[in-house]
Amino acid sequence: MTDAFRARLAIVAARAEATLTMLLTPGDGGGDGQIRDAMRHAALAGGKRLRAFLAVEGAEMLGAAPAQADRVGAALECLHAYSLVHDDLPCMDDDDLRRGQPTVHVKWDEATAVLAGDALQTEAFAILADPATHAMGEVRARLMAGLARAAGVAGMVGGQAIDIAAETAAVPLDLAEVTRLQALKTGALITYAGESGAILAEAGTGAEAALSAYSGAVGLAFQIQDDVLDVEGDQAAAGKRLRKDEAAGKATFVSLLGLEGAKARAREEVDRAAAHLDPFGPKADMLRSVARYVIERST
Ligand code: IPE
Ligand code: IPE
Ligand code: MG
Ligand code: MG
Ligand code: MG
Repeated sequence: MTDAFRARLAIVAARAEATLTMLLTPGDGGGDGQIRDAMRHAALAGGKRLRAFLAVEGAEMLGAAPAQADRVGAALECLHAYSLVHDDLPCMDDDDLRRGQPTVHVKWDEATAVLAGDALQTEAFAILADPATHAMGEVRARLMAGLARAAGVAGMVGGQAIDIAAETAAVPLDLAEVTRLQALKTGALITYAGESGAILAEAGTGAEAALSAYSGAVGLAFQIQDDVLDVEGDQAAAGKRLRKDEAAGKATFVSLLGLEGAKARAREEVDRAAAHLDPFGPKADMLRSVARYVIERST
């Protein structure tokens, strides 16, 4: 990681935290207070802010206003936080630790985790729907439609369903099936994160397609590294329980290709991602760096 990239990542993450802190108001003693507190716990307790970074960096590279880019980044982080709260539930991965903190259903209870996740999801769309995100309704509608597709049954939810079903399937998934699973489970939202920057900046279909292809490859590399870290990562650094995939009988890139094979595959995806940035020249250097970061990271 270069110093310039490290600094930029820290700045964009701090901006995402500040935007989320402003948008997610704390409980004020009313009946919804616990849900509001749980939403803040899930959305504000750290995290790499990769999805916000992809959206903000792409948007600003293409000329969008930083305050508007931050709102798109915050919407993505709300949606992502919801997916983690539900992913950690006993009926899914049954995890008690996330970002070094107790998961929402452990700190509160399962009903609170379901509702806080639901409300983080709707908050994401409310943020995009607000004219503060973009003056033009058509741009806001395109942002919302893209997020809906990425998060729904044709995206993240569909991937989660395949992931859960695969745990108990008689025949383990093959490489093509795991690739599809990962593209939906993690790839769809990360792909949209890149694409959303071009939509917000009204950069045109060529830029949208290039950033979408770029972040699609980043998303796959990212999930391969998540699977690698599950096997060889450090739990304290990751802030979540590791060594769970094999125990749960999950087919991953690591189980199918071995550790070295999975790492090689992730490197290929990073090269593929970088190639899609050629049209943007040196102004895409931070996006080139973040693609490498997703496979070099230990958290
Ligand atoms: C974890 O995502 C869940 C996956 C999609 C693999 P991140 O690794 O981006 O989690 P945070 O946001 O940094 O905590
Ligand atoms: C979860 O994938 C992806 C989503 C939340 C959509 P994992 O189950 O592998 O994520 P971790 O390892 O718990 O972060
Ligand atoms: Mg899971
Ligand atoms: Mg999980
Ligand atoms: Mg994982």
